[in-house]
Formats: sequence, C-alpha cells, structure tokens
Amino acid sequence: MAHAYSKAVELAAPKTSLTPCILDDDHSQLDLLSAVMDDMGYEAITTSDPEEALGLVRTGRCRLVLADVNMPGMNGYEFLDRALRSDPGIHVIVMTGEYTLESALDAIRRGATDFLPKPIDRVRLKRTLDEVATIYDQRKRVRALEEQLLKDLEFHGIVGKSPVMLEVFDFARKVARHYTNVLLVGSTGTGKELVARAIHNISPVSQQKLAICNCSAMVDTLLESQLFGHVRGSFTGATDTRPGLFEYANNGTVFLDEIGETSLPMQAKLLRVIQNREIQRVGSPEVRQVNVRLIAATNRDLRAEVLAGRFREDLFYRLSSIQIRVPSLTERLEDIPLLVHYFLKKYNDVYGKNISGLTRRAQTVLLQHAWPGNVRELENVIATAAITATGDFIDLADLPEHLQHRGPRRADGDDWRPLSLDEVRKVHIQRVLELCQGNRLRAAQILGIGRTSLYRYLKRDGHEMRARERTGGAAA
Ligand SMILES: Nc1ncnc2c1ncn2[C@@H]1O[C@H](COP(=O)(O)OP(=O)(O)OP(=O)(O)O)[C@@H](O)[C@H]1O
Ligand SMILES: [Mg+2]
Repeated sequence: MAHAYSKAVELAAPKTSLTPCILDDDHSQLDLLSAVMDDMGYEAITTSDPEEALGLVRTGRCRLVLADVNMPGMNGYEFLDRALRSDPGIHVIVMTGEYTLESALDAIRRGATDFLPKPIDRVRLKRTLDEVATIYDQRKRVRALEEQLLKDLEFHGIVGKSPVMLEVFDFARKVARHYTNVLLVGSTGTGKELVARAIHNISPVSQQKLAICNCSAMVDTLLESQLFGHVRGSFTGATDTRPGLFEYANNGTVFLDEIGETSLPMQAKLLRVIQNREIQRVGSPEVRQVNVRLIAATNRDLRAEVLAGRFREDLFYRLSSIQIRVPSLTERLEDIPLLVHYFLKKYNDVYGKNISGLTRRAQTVLLQHAWPGNVRELENVIATAAITATGDFIDLADLPEHLQHRGPRRADGDDWRPLSLDEVRKVHIQRVLELCQGNRLRAAQILGIGRTSLYRYLKRDGHEMRARERTGGAAA
C-alpha cells in the first residue's frame, strides 16, 4: 500500500463524531483497517457480523459502514440494500478484491457512497471519509440551527412554523390585547388549552388568575358548584361555603373547555355571566357581580349543535364573535419534525436519555399517519418511544404497533372485509379506545358522541370487560 500520504495530512483530519463501522469476515483486515482509520482520526467499530452492523445502522450508532463484498451469510450488496432500507441517509463504502469498473458503477447505482478496490488506497479512503465527515458535520450544524429556530418558533410553549399555525399565533396575539370572549374550535389534542393559556399570558390581565374548567368532566350539579360556588348545606356534602371559579378568577380569565358538552340550563347560566356579569352561588339568593374574560373551547361544530337544538343560539353568538380555529395536525404536516424535536428534547430530559432523532423510515411513518388524536397523540408516541428506544435513534420498532403496520394507503384498504355496520362500529370504537389508552372520555370526544352513548355501545357490543381492564378504572 503505497503512498503519497503524509502524517501532516492525517493530523489535518477533521474531528468528527461520525463513527465508522468496518464490516469484513477477515479479522486481519478488520485490525489493519481499524488501525489505518485510527491514524486518520476516526475511531471505528469493527465487526464480522453483517447483522450486527445492520443493528448499528438501525439504531444510528454509526453513520458510515466500510463493507466487504465477499462475506459468508450476506454479501456486501445485500448488506448495502438492507442498510439503505433501514436508513437511506447511511453512507456505505463497498470494498472488494475483485474490482471492475462495471461492479463499481453498479454499487454506486445501488446507493453506495464509494467503491474501493482492495488493498485499500489510504489516500482515497481518507478523502472519502473526510467528505462524508464534512457532510455529516454540516448536517449537525443545521440541526443546531434548527434548535435555535425552535426557540424562535415557539409561541408561549406552542410549537409551530406552518403558515396555519403562524396565523393562529398572530390572531391570538391581536385578540389577547382586547378583553373580549374568544371561542377556540378544533379537534381533540390540537392545543386549544395551550392557546387559551397563551392568550391569558399576553393579555392585560395576565397578572390576574386563569381558571380552567373542563365542562364535560362533571355532572351538571357539580359543574354548577365548581363554576358558581355554593353555600353550606345547599346540597348533600356541601359542608362549607365556597366561591366558584368565576369569583376565583374575577378580573382575570376563565377557560371553559368542551363547552359544547354543557346542558341547556347550564348554558342559560353562562349566558347570564356574559350578558349581566352576574352569578349566584348554588343555594344562595344573593346576586354577585363578576368581571371575567371567557375563553371557551369545543371540538364540536357549535353551529350544527345550535341547529339541532342542543346549543343556545344567543350564547353561541356571544361566544363566537372572535373565533380561532386550531388546525388539526394533518393540516400542518410541516410542523411534525419540529414537534418531534421539541418532544424529544422534553422526554430526553424527563427520562435521562440522549436520543438524537428518528430513523428515516420512522419519520416517514409519522408523516403518513392520520393522527386522530393530533399533537397529544404525537406527544404520547414520542414519549413512549423515548422510553423503549435503546439506540441513539427512534426506529419503527419503538413506534406503536398500529403505526408500524399501516402503509401509505388508507387505513382499511388491505384488510377490508364485508362487515355489517354494527361490526364496523364495534371495531372502530375498540381502535379508538386503544388509541386513547382506554380513556373513555377522550374516546367519546374523538368519536364525536356523548359519554353516555359510548357506554351504551360498549355495553351492547360486549366491549365492557375489555375496556374496563384497559382503563384500570381511571376513565369513568
Ligand atoms: N403546538 C404544540 N406545541 C407543543 N405542544 C403541544 C402543541 N399542541 C399541543 N401540544 C401538547 O399536546 C397536548 C394536548 O394539548 P391541549 O390540551 O392544549 O389540546 P386540546 O386541544 O385542549 O385538547 P382537548 O380537545 O382534548 O381538550 C398537551 O400536552 C400539549 O402540551
Ligand atoms: Mg383541552
């Protein structure tokens, strides 16, 4: 191995975190090449097992493989194909003792970064390694810039760079200054509560209190006492007199989540708060004055609810003079990489991990999923994957089963069977329940039905036991 190759060149080798892997069935070659690479400033992992090398690629432990062509078990070309399938960004340099121009071109066509004859020409190897290292370091710098960008693209804890989200931020900023009621419309998990908090935080009353109430989580009597307060003895269990959230957050903001789930009598009471700024504690004749900004949220089409007679028209108009629609995640796919980055950072901290990203194929799967649970579902996926991932990268196997097996085609395309509508409902409800990890309240929200209807279906379809086992009793 000859060579116009000097120590000075070696010393100029860039310091990089690119970890090469040398794959060869010949152990003496492994030792030799690893010593050569070491001289060049690259600390390599060596193996004679192609499966082990594939594992390193899959988990992102190495970003470049120098692979021999003739190996028992799996030849270099097959290795190249499989490595690229795992991670299309991987660099594979194929090396062989039987070099022909044709085989070299063939390897490049198949996606190899370079094709080197044996014995390896050190100068050429170094040039290739340095080129790859430069690209790799450039990508790392881009990632660091993205990190900076992430800080700039965060609006009070809400991450987004898509035009539709920037519009939401812009509008929220404008309306926050004026003390008017706001209606937030959007599917479950899109970030309505975050937007409500942001509006409060940048409003002139940010120093005052923000009270949050989920209107669908309680029966009417409890909701009434929660919002308006009660006097001692007004109902069984009312052992003391308490102010409600409207009094607590007087001069501040009250966020009413799932307002579409409230009953007509409750809606009448809310209208009174808006129109007359008056409340009465449960069991008290005394009328009290309150001054609050109402931010309400719903995942229902309130106009349709009005037409169906389930929502008061006057309350709807009072609430909806300023309406912000928070788009579903599939309407802003370009936010997914940013959100993934943000959640990875968050869960790396929580679980003491150091995961750098997702493999290409895992990224592809995320971009093709339908995300019925929107950003909340994405956050859950990343949180769970951060726990299970053992390598530096989250791979397919770390994603939930139903994501792994769903191809780019529509959900029911492949396993379509001629089911009755009752069966379709049963299967669909089961899937949604699994998505919500058994949380029936959330499942009912996604399904767009009331909790009572969901219970009725669960009972009728014989889901009950299974669903209850999953909820661990937490969802009722
Ligand atoms: N743009 C975003 N950036 C960062 N985190 C987000 C974003 N959107 C949502 N999340 C996170 O997703 C989860 C759900 O968000 P949030 O509770 O605001 O949704 P929601 O629209 O109120 O849902 P629901 O209708 O079910 O009440 C939260 O953990 C929130 O922190
Ligand atoms: Mg909410």
